[in-house]
Amino acid sequence: MSTYSAAAIAPPNIAFIKYWGNRDEVLRLPVNGSLSMNLDGLWARTRVTFVPGLAADTLTLNAQPQRGASLERVRAFLDLVRQMSGLRWAAAVQSENNFPAGAGIASSAAAFAALALAATAAAGLEMDRAALSRLARRGSGSAARSVPDGFVEWEVGQDDRTSYAFSIAPPEHWELLDCVTVISRAHKPVGSSAGHRLAASSPLQAARVDDAPQRIARCRQAILERDFAALAEVVEQDSNLMHAVMMTSSPPLFYWLPATLRVMEAVRRWRREGLPVCYTIDAGPNVHVLCLPEAQEEAQRRLAALEGVQQVIVARPGHGARLLEEENA
Ligand code: DP6
Repeated sequence: MSTYSAAAIAPPNIAFIKYWGNRDEVLRLPVNGSLSMNLDGLWARTRVTFVPGLAADTLTLNAQPQRGASLERVRAFLDLVRQMSGLRWAAAVQSENNFPAGAGIASSAAAFAALALAATAAAGLEMDRAALSRLARRGSGSAARSVPDGFVEWEVGQDDRTSYAFSIAPPEHWELLDCVTVISRAHKPVGSSAGHRLAASSPLQAARVDDAPQRIARCRQAILERDFAALAEVVEQDSNLMHAVMMTSSPPLFYWLPATLRVMEAVRRWRREGLPVCYTIDAGPNVHVLCLPEAQEEAQRRLAALEGVQQVIVARPGHGARLLEEENA
């Protein structure tokens, strides 16, 4: 294998405080900070090989050659790595995910975190975690959060240099579980990148953004103190706020299906009855149900029994992006 090749692995993450809207679309500078947990056991694994004489960058995803928008997005990202390294060769990128597409687990976060690490290592660049998070952000905002370990905060920052994610607690800090409750695998009609562009058209966005620092502080404290009740309150409020903005954008975005509401309602009821569970929903109909380990069996059983639930995938807190040394030897 040439020295201009490296492989890396990175997890998806679930945001407890959401990123929705950019103040700079090209640099992917967000309008508010966000906070997330990496998902263990789920990953994107990516090998990047810069090849002398290769005419143009190529991309395979789960062994399928990619063209069009997904290839262009990867090319634009590799251009950044070429600018930073002075390397001019095109690259062959091979990527695999071990989690199902359309399950409501953001694949772009894992994909661009793994790509950022593999591509910079392949190009011989030495990057610290902050620099790597900053670079991953340029590929997909939420990818900035898949670089550091465990529970992660993405600082809103003022500019490219100051907007990056860092770990606030390692994965072992708190055994929170994410029961990803799959309701539909259909391709979402409006993806996150287009959604971010619509956020400012909602009159509710300004209020959501103004209040974000306060929610981040509450969420950070709940995580550091392992306070599930406080976490549940702020996580559900933040998810509801983002969806209120989505529903009041022009044009409006409705991601929920009837079964989404059924899960939300059940989760709130179960919590009132004493089960430590809460929900958060990204740009799709599937529901991430967070719970404590003692509630996992019960939560999983009850969720699977709800009408319209297709599958429940459980993930614990995980590490961030890392190089696959054995494959790079
Ligand atoms: C609803 O990071 O997927 O999942 O930067 O355009 O790739 P791009 O957007 P992306 O947006 C994530 C939106 C979200 C909330 C979150 O993860 O914070």
